[in-house]
Amino acid sequence: MSRDQKFFDMYSLVIGVLAAIALAILVLTMKMQDLTQDVYVRDAAEYQQAVLSRIQPVGQVYLPGEQHSAAAPTVTTPAQPEPVATVMTGPQVYNSACSACHGAGIGGAPVLGDAAQWVERISQGDETLKRHAIEGFTGSAGYMPPKGGRLDLSDAEIESAVDFMVGEVN
Ligand code: HEC
Repeated sequence: MSRDQKFFDMYSLVIGVLAAIALAILVLTMKMQDLTQDVYVRDAAEYQQAVLSRIQPVGQVYLPGEQHSAAAPTVTTPAQPEPVATVMTGPQVYNSACSACHGAGIGGAPVLGDAAQWVERISQGDETLKRHAIEGFTGSAGYMPPKGGRLDLSDAEIESAVDFMVGEVN
């Protein structure tokens, strides 16, 4: 066998194998397209539906008397968290509502922690003190407004402030 003949045989073989591989790839590609791309068959009903839903207008106009095809949108308001009723502690109430007068004895208010000014008042008893704090009280020293003017505070908060003030004396 001549060298040329041998080369020619080899060459044909390689070309043949490459052609077979190319054909195999082509067939495989077509098969894969069949398996995966069928949505894109343009006249498939599913495909048409998908296109229509993608290009449909954002809004629609209904003339009076026309039946609305879409249900009225339901507006859902997110549940609001219940406002937490914060109860202030005695010292907190004192600082925000009572210290203005009782801190320095403004208008004759008995000064916080000043035993001499408190002993007699405390001897009236807790209940009277609390009632005077809640309802207001006018004595010989001056005018104590109901709840110190903070009518937004609860009775319990005023009572805990009184407890705090009485506790400061001892
Ligand atoms: C505007 C000033 C003022 C504020 C604010 C105020 N007080 Fe008074 N308070 C007075 C005065 C004045 C007296 C003394 C009244 C008297 O005996 O003549 C008094 C007296 C009192 C007494 C003694 C009552 C008695 O029977 O002797 C208590 C208890 C009291 N206050 C609690 C409070 C508490 C609690 C607060 C805050 C929630 C508060 N006060 C805020 C002015 C004030």
